[in-house]
Amino acid sequence: MALLKLCSLSFLLSSAVFAADYAPVSSSCPSSSTTLVREASSGLSTEESTWAEARKAIADEALATWLAKQNSAWAEATTLPKLALSSSGGGYRAMLGGAGVIKGFDSRDSNVSTSGLWQALTYHAGLSGGAWLVASVAGNNWPTVSSLVTGLWNDTLDETLLLAEGLDGAIDIVANLKAKEKAGFDTTLTDSWGRLLSYQILYGDDGGVNKTLSGIAEFTEYTSHNAPFPIMTSTGVEVWDGQCSPDALGTQYEFSPLEFGSWDSGVAAFVPTEYLGSSLSNGAPSGSDCVTGYDQLGYMFGTSSSLFNLACIPADVNATEIGTLLYEILIKVHEAATKDLFGVFPNPFYEYTTSSDVSAQDTLYLVDGAESGQNIPLWPLIQPARGIDVIFANDLSADTDYNWPNGTEILQTYTTATAEGLTTMPQIPSVDTFLSEGLNTRPVFFGCNDADVITIIYLPNYNYSYASNVSTLQLEYEATETAALVANGVEIASYGGKADFGPCLACGIMQKSGATLPSECTDCLASYCYN
Ligand SMILES: *[C@@H]1O[C@H](CO)[C@@H](O)[C@H](O)[C@H]1NC(C)=O
Ligand SMILES: *[C@@H]1O[C@H](CO)[C@@H](O)[C@H](O)[C@H]1NC(C)=O
Ligand SMILES: *[C@@H]1O[C@H](CO)[C@@H](O)[C@H](O)[C@H]1NC(C)=O
Ligand SMILES: *[C@@H]1O[C@H](CO)[C@@H](O)[C@H](O)[C@H]1NC(C)=O
Ligand SMILES: *[C@@H]1O[C@H](CO)[C@@H](O)[C@H](O)[C@H]1NC(C)=O
Ligand SMILES: *[C@@H]1O[C@H](CO)[C@@H](O)[C@H](O)[C@H]1NC(C)=O
Ligand SMILES: *[C@@H]1O[C@H](CO)[C@@H](O)[C@H](O)[C@H]1NC(C)=O
Repeated sequence: MALLKLCSLSFLLSSAVFAADYAPVSSSCPSSSTTLVREASSGLSTEESTWAEARKAIADEALATWLAKQNSAWAEATTLPKLALSSSGGGYRAMLGGAGVIKGFDSRDSNVSTSGLWQALTYHAGLSGGAWLVASVAGNNWPTVSSLVTGLWNDTLDETLLLAEGLDGAIDIVANLKAKEKAGFDTTLTDSWGRLLSYQILYGDDGGVNKTLSGIAEFTEYTSHNAPFPIMTSTGVEVWDGQCSPDALGTQYEFSPLEFGSWDSGVAAFVPTEYLGSSLSNGAPSGSDCVTGYDQLGYMFGTSSSLFNLACIPADVNATEIGTLLYEILIKVHEAATKDLFGVFPNPFYEYTTSSDVSAQDTLYLVDGAESGQNIPLWPLIQPARGIDVIFANDLSADTDYNWPNGTEILQTYTTATAEGLTTMPQIPSVDTFLSEGLNTRPVFFGCNDADVITIIYLPNYNYSYASNVSTLQLEYEATETAALVANGVEIASYGGKADFGPCLACGIMQKSGATLPSECTDCLASYCYN
């Protein structure tokens, strides 16, 4: 506590020094190209496909090592599947439970049946609380979860966002937002939200103010292809048509260190994340200069977890304590306005011909990735361009009255994918089936027996060692609770240490490679595969 008081004092004293770091800046545009935008129909960017290929080679070695531990039959395996992890939303419950799953996969940090699979992932997507997790891990250059607990979360989660109640930290945040306004950009509740969260999620007295999403591409673990490719998601709202919230077919945006955009028709385009905030028309810079720094990391994970639009009108944001606090900050910067309810982005797809749903708009309005009803960020991972074979879907949603998942989030992804003609998603049963067969309480493999779809290894929240169904609204955690939620997450990853889980998981993964399966797999697949 004393340490934190000291930190807040130092925010106050040094505010003048780094307040401006939050503001986007004018920079020269990349010289090589006349257009910064590309069509989604061209597949992955060259940068991403080159990076992912290099990553996959390293991931394959780790997977081979892990497989050999499960069954000697895999020693000869040559064709290995491409793996991804999807970390759901659900506030700090999801961040900490999801962190436990990473720990249970990470051979640097655990010794359970699944340890080593983190090293074998090519992609990691996170949404809302899961985006905080992606940001805390990737944004700090991929330390172990244990070191994040000890070095950061133990202390920062104990104090909560309301640390700023003394408003020492908030003084800095006001200065950050004023600097962004002065640079010519709108600020909203998502700015104050992202800044407050950052003091808990990123290292440094300044809450990682100078970190950007695109800057992650310069970190050593990224350049050495030593970690999975990080992606966060968000949903678009058609504010210009009077919408407060998206519907189930709302445009799903994704942002990575490389690109920002959407695969969905109506947008179907991407722009380099580094140049977000630039004024573009039909993909081309309007002036001689571009903008960098708009992709401030806290703003990006703040956008992925921005729920203020649910209030629909600014005054109603005050209904929650956190809403009131955020407005107290924002109102020092400008008068309340409807745009405050969203993460706002100067529209990079303005007048871009393929982006028919948004090409007439100067601003994009983005909200929490879960608002389309899909709280597990599978959308980026089921895109055929990424060629992913197996996804670990870690579901920490609070669907039921008691804050447990009930299958509805993954089912919505299946329903939407089917409606939009995306055929990579395995069939997902009804919520009634999830509940009656207990599919929401244990690991289940979906899509085993259909070679044309991705296999999803569903890893739902369950109270193996701790009552891990804490409310999404709980924003303050004592060190013991943080540790207990992470420890329970390790059990979620490894099915509570069940003896057959490692070898059976190997069967589920390798079935997708088309390999001949050892005879032990027959019983495994019968017990873990839903279909
Ligand atoms: C991991 O656990 C196994 C089985 O309990 C044990 O044989 C092995 O030595 C452990 N490895 C490490 C690095 O602790
Ligand atoms: C951000 O600030 C920290 C602390 O002042 C500094 O060490 C780091 O190099 C800066 N990073 C960038 C990308 O400017
Ligand atoms: C509530 O929100 C409005 C924004 O509409 C703000 O101007 C006002 O100061 C807030 N009121 C209180 C009591 O916090
Ligand atoms: C499942 O969760 C959804 C989302 O919270 C909820 O609307 C629905 O009522 C739940 N269904 C059942 C049967 O529990
Ligand atoms: C957690 O789940 C148990 C039942 O599984 C329930 O009794 C309890 O009220 C739940 N807690 C919360 C905070 O929802
Ligand atoms: C998990 O929930 C069940 C059912 O509510 C309860 O009986 C059990 O004690 C809980 N276990 C833990 C570790 O909280
Ligand atoms: C963090 O919390 C855990 C659990 O209470 C404890 O074991 C560990 O020593 C703590 N670390 C620090 C640096 O406080």
